[in-house]
Amino acid sequence: MVFGLSEVTGMVSREELNVVGSKRILQIGTYAMAAVKERTEALRAKGLSPVDFGMGDPSAPTPEFIRRACAEGIERHAASGYPPFSGSLPFRQAVSDWVKGRFGVTLDADSEIVSSVGSKESIFHLPEALIDPGDVVICPDPGYPPYATGTLFAEGEPHYAPIHGGTDFLPDLDAIPDQIAERARIFWLTTPSSPSGRVASPEYLKRWVEWCRQRNIVACSDEAYSEIYFDEPPHTALEQGKDGVLVFNSLSKRSAMTGYRVGWVAGDPQLIAPYRKLKANIDTGTPWFIQEAAIAAYSDEEHVAQMREGYRKRRDLFVSAFENAGLPRSEPEASLYVWQRAPEGVTSTGLAEALLDEKILAVTIPSAALIGDPSQHGPEEQYVRLSMVASWDESEQIATAIAEHLRLG
Ligand SMILES: Cc1ncc(COP(=O)(O)O)c(C=O)c1O
Repeated sequence: MVFGLSEVTGMVSREELNVVGSKRILQIGTYAMAAVKERTEALRAKGLSPVDFGMGDPSAPTPEFIRRACAEGIERHAASGYPPFSGSLPFRQAVSDWVKGRFGVTLDADSEIVSSVGSKESIFHLPEALIDPGDVVICPDPGYPPYATGTLFAEGEPHYAPIHGGTDFLPDLDAIPDQIAERARIFWLTTPSSPSGRVASPEYLKRWVEWCRQRNIVACSDEAYSEIYFDEPPHTALEQGKDGVLVFNSLSKRSAMTGYRVGWVAGDPQLIAPYRKLKANIDTGTPWFIQEAAIAAYSDEEHVAQMREGYRKRRDLFVSAFENAGLPRSEPEASLYVWQRAPEGVTSTGLAEALLDEKILAVTIPSAALIGDPSQHGPEEQYVRLSMVASWDESEQIATAIAEHLRLG
């Protein structure tokens, strides 16, 4: 850590505004959203109000019965007290019951489930518990950034497995080089996928889990969007048996609880044990009252069904808006995102910028900002991610503007 002269003189020089950090923090690249962000700020400076479809953060309020359970939890734990490192037994039991009801899989609440401070925390930290410096972690590309950043912080090496139309939006197992597979310790899969909205079939999950088992690689399935689906409910990797498998899920998307920060990791007890040990050294568990809110959330499916309907309406709205503007039809099976393909000859940044036109004003994320290894993606793999989280009125207004004003090439 470096302290600047300002600590002594009270003056801040330009150089001192530059943060100096560890080698690990410095190796994390700058945010590739810069171009879109700059354009958005310029529009704001002109007094315009672009609508943010960037983050997957639901704008809908957390259902009232969940907020009430949280408030009651605060009263019940009036003497605060540290919560258990791995989650309270009632929380882990609620997860176990929910998994049993939803997927028919039995989990031992004691040895096969650990609470997390949301999946981002567990995904980022897991490599610290499972890999050694130089080990490879296979990450879908484009994919959720903590797969790679967590690997880098644990001094591992991310291997980007491209997902695009040519791989059916799932990692192509046959394309992973043997030298990579030999050094790999973790393989991340996102199902339903962010950003593509593709759901892995039970057949794919079986092949993936077996592929990992044969190579002694931990199969880590990130199922954060498992409840945001538009057709058949997605399957879990846990249906393939727990041996060598870890599943990550959270209440963030299912129950619009992104701000509560509560999730869980479940699976092979041999793998849960090192993660639990790591957690005990990092944080001191999810707050009691948040766990009580989560228990309440898992007791109800009605609010989840209603939320799904809201996303389905938005999906249909945006898919037709893009189609009416002459873009290729891009319909997600699940997740919060429309992964809209750009027309031939238009880059992802070009499409994202066109959506920021003053007549549209939609902020989206171009695939160029999400891809870790561009060399594995052809020019035809150009997309923008539009997160379906805005209010219905804003969504309708922007969808109409897209259909009427988005003109490319
Ligand atoms: C693919 C994926 N996994 C995990 C998460 C983490 O969600 P949380 O930390 O809120 O549980 C997100 C959040 O956007 C995500 O997109």
